[in-house]
Amino acid sequence: MCGIVGVIGKKDTTQVLLKGLEKLEYRGYDSAGIYVNNQDGQDYLVKEKGKISDLEKAVGPEVQGLVGIGHTRWATHGEPSDTNAHPHVSQSGRFYLVHNGVITNYQELKTTYLKDVHFVSATDTEVAVQLIAKLVEVDGLTTEKAFQKALKMIEGSFAFLMVDRNEPDKLFVAKNKSPLLVGVGDGFNVVCSDAMAMVSQTKQFIELHDGEMVIVTKDHVQLMNADGETIERQPYQATIDDSDISKGTYQYYMLKEIDEQPAVLRRLTQAYINDDGEFNFDSKLIEGLKAADRLYIVAAGTSYHAGLVGKPIFEKLAKKPVEVELASEFGYNMPLLSEKPFFIYLSQSGETADSRQVLVKTNALGYPSLTITNAPGSTLSREADFTLLLHAGPEIAVASTKAYTAQITVEVILAQALAAAEGLENNFDVKHELGLAANAIQTIVDSKDKMADLAKTYFAKTRNAFYIGRGVDYCTSLEAALKLKEVSYIQAEGFAAGELKHGTISLIEDGTPVAAIITDPATASHTRGNIQEVEARGAKTLRIASEALAQDGDQIVLPKLSTVVIPIVSIVPAQLLAYYATLQRGYNVDQPRNLAKSVTVE
Ligand code: F6R
Repeated sequence: MCGIVGVIGKKDTTQVLLKGLEKLEYRGYDSAGIYVNNQDGQDYLVKEKGKISDLEKAVGPEVQGLVGIGHTRWATHGEPSDTNAHPHVSQSGRFYLVHNGVITNYQELKTTYLKDVHFVSATDTEVAVQLIAKLVEVDGLTTEKAFQKALKMIEGSFAFLMVDRNEPDKLFVAKNKSPLLVGVGDGFNVVCSDAMAMVSQTKQFIELHDGEMVIVTKDHVQLMNADGETIERQPYQATIDDSDISKGTYQYYMLKEIDEQPAVLRRLTQAYINDDGEFNFDSKLIEGLKAADRLYIVAAGTSYHAGLVGKPIFEKLAKKPVEVELASEFGYNMPLLSEKPFFIYLSQSGETADSRQVLVKTNALGYPSLTITNAPGSTLSREADFTLLLHAGPEIAVASTKAYTAQITVEVILAQALAAAEGLENNFDVKHELGLAANAIQTIVDSKDKMADLAKTYFAKTRNAFYIGRGVDYCTSLEAALKLKEVSYIQAEGFAAGELKHGTISLIEDGTPVAAIITDPATASHTRGNIQEVEARGAKTLRIASEALAQDGDQIVLPKLSTVVIPIVSIVPAQLLAYYATLQRGYNVDQPRNLAKSVTVE
């Protein structure tokens, strides 16, 4: 959360910063700002509450320079406001700094070392810039030494990018636990939280590691460890393309990403299963999974729901017991673990701080780990023993859609690979079934008009709603309700269908929308009974049923599929319903309030 960009050596600095921030807006969008310096004594600071488009309106034509930094914010300390927006400035007006992360000892620094400083914002970030200024202006250190010393005094997570007005031919850069890359250009260099922001400028990026600092000039990148010793690291070539991150003809990324799901399933099948039907996984990974007596899937939000769906898949196909854990809970309340646990971290971004704190702990305990992520080179990927990529292409809409179905797809393939390695026979033709699932998703995404009509009937005007189901349909209900609530602001709950009558049914009144997911033959008749119960109390029910279990009057019928892959498909109508309901209610579906895509604070 929070995105930062910097550029040095380009004439169109302001445009590069603003375009970069637009690409990073998924990381936070409550306020934004830029600082630009023309290296000839003239500089500009523009900060604005609101989205990047608001900042763009506030930036006049005179704001031009040869070095600049920018920030888009997801507030942690201090409300969204012009004052709390970054860049922050030292009291002397000499140092300008942007930050992504959380400084945990900011109060302590404020009341001890900086007690004579007048702070203007309510942010933790301002402490960093005031501290560096004091180390230079009072203690007499050079800016480089002051920056280095401050990094040792500051605790918490940070990606910093700073300009010293007196040395505007340099960007001062540092990273600890928040992502940051330096992009290498020809006669210019850039810095960004995510390569997406700068692939239009360069494809060559140097990954920074925790504890490192960098001095970037227009034609040099000096990478150093915490003690100032130079480190050599070659850039890598970013594989994303500018066209991957554009909306194309779509109005919103969310719909584009929902539509991409059949292609993602096919790409994953190709990546992990060869033409002869053999699995393409690191043999050490499969050996590690085989050796485990229990798999622990750790994740947050939508990825947690993909983990819940994955549990019965691993247990059914590979006969391996699985626990699924919320990262934010598990790290601090670790239950008694089995003797040979294996940890699987599901994370679209690979940067979720809640998941990372668990990985740090399980690494310290010496347990093997796998990260399943959409972000190669992300923190969780680097720190786990193994990585499997989701191959979903950049997911930019804040509400996760294609990464969720990709996560379940990888779980299905991995579970079947494990079953094969264990010598288990289960008659499940994974390649064929995933092909059918991709076709089934295509059928659903081709029925957009119908989904828009259903959204209008059930969700356009309501204040609350329920999704219900049993077994894996309950897990899908949790995700369906999260999708609906996070973008449309309808108070939506995912509920185990049989559990409603134990209390929550009292919330059902005339017209309450209840969507039921029915794909499991073992529980379908019971869920139908629960539908009758809520209808008897006035609920307006919407039934999403698999073809084999469909009855007259069911509004959405899913094509015939095995129960293993059907959860990859049954979520898709719910994604579309959430999308259309949100548009009908007049909200921005890609940027729901209070959220950010990559949650890098605990
Ligand atoms: C909801 C959503 C979030 C994320 C969660 C974990 O649509 O996207 O709930 O799933 O913040 O993020 P990752 O998967 O990046 O670890």
